[in-house]
Amino acid sequence: MSLARTRDVPSVPNDLQSYWMPFTPNRAFKKAPRLIARAKGMHYYTADGRAVLDGTAGLWCCNAGHNRDPIVEAIRAQAAELDYAPAFQFGHPKAFELASRIAALAPGALEHVFFCNSGSEAVDTALKIALAFHNVRGQGARMRLIGRERGYHGVGFGGISVGGIVNNRKNFGSLLVGVDHLPHTYNREKQAFTRGEPEWGAHLADELDRIVSLHDASTIAAVIVEPMAGSTGVLPPPKGYLERLRAICDKHGILLIFDEVITGFGRMGHAFAAERYGVEPDMITFAKGVTSGAVPMAGVIVRKAVYDAFMNGPENAIELFHGYTYSAHPLACAAGLATLDLYREEGLFERAKKLEPVWADAAMTLKGLPNVLDIRTIGLVAGIDLASKPDAVGRRGTEAMEKAFGEEGLMIRITGETIALSPPLIVSEGEIGEIFDKLGKVLRGLN
Ligand SMILES: Cc1ncc(COP(=O)(O)O)c(C=O)c1O
Repeated sequence: MSLARTRDVPSVPNDLQSYWMPFTPNRAFKKAPRLIARAKGMHYYTADGRAVLDGTAGLWCCNAGHNRDPIVEAIRAQAAELDYAPAFQFGHPKAFELASRIAALAPGALEHVFFCNSGSEAVDTALKIALAFHNVRGQGARMRLIGRERGYHGVGFGGISVGGIVNNRKNFGSLLVGVDHLPHTYNREKQAFTRGEPEWGAHLADELDRIVSLHDASTIAAVIVEPMAGSTGVLPPPKGYLERLRAICDKHGILLIFDEVITGFGRMGHAFAAERYGVEPDMITFAKGVTSGAVPMAGVIVRKAVYDAFMNGPENAIELFHGYTYSAHPLACAAGLATLDLYREEGLFERAKKLEPVWADAAMTLKGLPNVLDIRTIGLVAGIDLASKPDAVGRRGTEAMEKAFGEEGLMIRITGETIALSPPLIVSEGEIGEIFDKLGKVLRGLN
């Protein structure tokens, strides 16, 4: 069929088949689709007008709530003013403004921001900066990267290599070489039903010393961890764990990267989890909440000493051969600035901190319900582990998600058999009660 002929076709049937959906069982979804038509504040609305209370801030990203007027207006105005400017060798004012604002929110000497478009890109960027940093300082033998079991760092080859989720790794070849993993920090026997940071587990950071003894510090570039592992099922860090990791990295000249794609922008009651724990990493990756999910944007915040190490060659030479066409896209920068204004004006990070005990109390009301094995809470996040059905691992979680959406009008997220909750930070105390009432009904009704 010629192109002209194609253009004459008035419409293409929308039969759901063409779209290959990410991280979704495509065939099951297309038999019983869950379609979302619009959103406002704390709610999604289905095409037939049903309200669905958002217990997950989309995918951990809409921290300011949905379709907030100032963000919508900023995007609209930016689209009319400057659609795009080349990201390489040119800039536009809002990119610099947003970088300054983000650096000002980050702790200590985390002063420079490299922009990307997704958490996965941010992770690969941080890993590349770490390798290049050692190279420019004449320590090119530092090539190893250390991740952690159960870590999620997106889906780029770097991210799945340092990540620790088997299904995300096993079908994709040999991944990056020279990667090792710390043990994850979850132990149900020692930690079940903990609010906030568990008492048990700080010693697991010492495993880094063991890895260093095996490979030698002179071969290790960086360690990357999520301060609170979100996508693997909500694993708050044991008390003192991150501090210990920092100390061991310092002892051996290893860079420490916090992947704050989920924990950044208020989720833990602070701008970044690094602030909550008083631990300053060498780099922070961020995404999601920076624009409240309204436009894709991500980045890496880099410590001054790391940035400065690159600024030694001839002034007219490119210092880092890395970047994306859409690094600091004008629409994303406009959305980011409006989002940061909203966070500040409405005190949303402080609000999350204040609500943390209310949230934890409400989550713990589900203790004792059928199949509930553990509940973990931290900041405005909760993880609820369900017992698996014999021979159908993951099925009970999926049924909970379907029932919540279809019958209770509640959006929840499942990872395996863990329900993960992370509402927009504008959630009211009443809505917190509603989330757990609805979820309680769902859990009582499951087989
Ligand atoms: C900690 C962490 N890193 C990286 C990513 C990847 O982000 P994206 O899906 O934007 O690539 C995620 C996504 O959930 C994440 O939670």
